[in-house]
Amino acid sequence: MPTRDQVMQALRAVIDPELRRDIVELEMVRSIETHANGVIDVTVSLTTPGCPIRSHFQTGVAQAVRELEGVSGVNVSFDVLSDDEKAALGRKLGRGALPEGALAQVRNVICVGSGKGGVGKSSVTANLAAALAADGKQVGVLDADVWGYSQPRMLGLGSERPRVNANRKLLPLIAAEGISVMSIGFFVEQDAAVVWRGPMLHKALQQFLEDVEWGELDYLLIDLPPGTGDVSMTLAQLLPQAKFVIVTTPQPVAQKVARRSAEMASKLKLEIAGVIENMSGFVTPAGERFQLFGEGGGQLLAEELEVPLLAKVPLTMALREQSDAGIPVVFSDPDDPAAQALAHGARGLIALSPIELPVMQAPAPAAAPKPAGMSLPMA
Ligand SMILES: Nc1ncnc2c1ncn2[C@@H]1O[C@H](COP(=O)(O)OP(=O)(O)OP(=O)(O)O)[C@@H](O)[C@H]1O
Ligand SMILES: [Mg+2]
Repeated sequence: MPTRDQVMQALRAVIDPELRRDIVELEMVRSIETHANGVIDVTVSLTTPGCPIRSHFQTGVAQAVRELEGVSGVNVSFDVLSDDEKAALGRKLGRGALPEGALAQVRNVICVGSGKGGVGKSSVTANLAAALAADGKQVGVLDADVWGYSQPRMLGLGSERPRVNANRKLLPLIAAEGISVMSIGFFVEQDAAVVWRGPMLHKALQQFLEDVEWGELDYLLIDLPPGTGDVSMTLAQLLPQAKFVIVTTPQPVAQKVARRSAEMASKLKLEIAGVIENMSGFVTPAGERFQLFGEGGGQLLAEELEVPLLAKVPLTMALREQSDAGIPVVFSDPDDPAAQALAHGARGLIALSPIELPVMQAPAPAAAPKPAGMSLPMA
């Protein structure tokens, strides 16, 4: 039979995909009990009860421990870190608060940003959301561009106002294919300027994350305002698990912008998932392509940051027209070259996301006590 230390050593192979450290280092292994018949009980402490990566831990722990000699079965159960433990973990990671409340049920948070304005962040966000939803994913879009919000228009929403549910949480508005959307644009008069800065802004974003009933989402896409301002800083603080997708244009001379994006990402301490090159040539309705803005900028930036180039999205009439009409081109014209490229980008994102492994329960012999945590509803 392996010793407790050997089991602990084996559990170092189990990585928390969000915090990117092993569960031993994160002090998430609550208890290890070995039974004479070769069965080992392991209790893992999660940050939240509805932790979406629970099945990942379940499989990972069972696999790691089963590999040890003399082990005949593994029971994995779960409990939840206390508030003090969570705070200690947050301090240990040198980060702000861990994901809590509504966002506990969000599997992937992806911020779409760029080093400069007008490169198509909002169009890319709306269409990635559409492509992910078309693929059967549960998707939310948070329009974090409080000054220049555009998601209500791009996703065809806005005449309605979000309602509050019985738990006093704001309900997102629902766009085509069930995309949940929240934007400051739902609360202000049409085209009214929002002039918040500093603490007001911080509070508003915090509310969008904590007081909105996002529910269970595979992806929450966040449309960032241009540049590296307060909004990005606040979001990075509130969402340390978020990943970043950088949108850029193809000009090879965009080196300065590339450097700014890299600086922004390192300042925000967020992982960069990849680069999307937009306005990557112009494709005429007849299919002819012109390299209006040169070539290679996206590839160059991706290489510099050592991340994948997720898509090269051409300029097309359909994309522009459909985003003005409130229907993402991915829905209205899936054969459009821009729509195709964005759907390709969405598949790339799916490939990069933490894999949801099927729940594999190790056979539990009759003698072994039923692990208490198993009765919790599975995420
Ligand atoms: N691939 C494309 N093909 C055609 N038009 C596009 C494409 N990408 C963006 N556009 C158009 O360019 C304009 C700017 O795009 P968008 O608003 O998405 O950029 P942004 O980066 O979010 O801008 P901001 O920095 O102001 O938030 C929009 O009118 C949009 O319809
Ligand atoms: Mg925008």
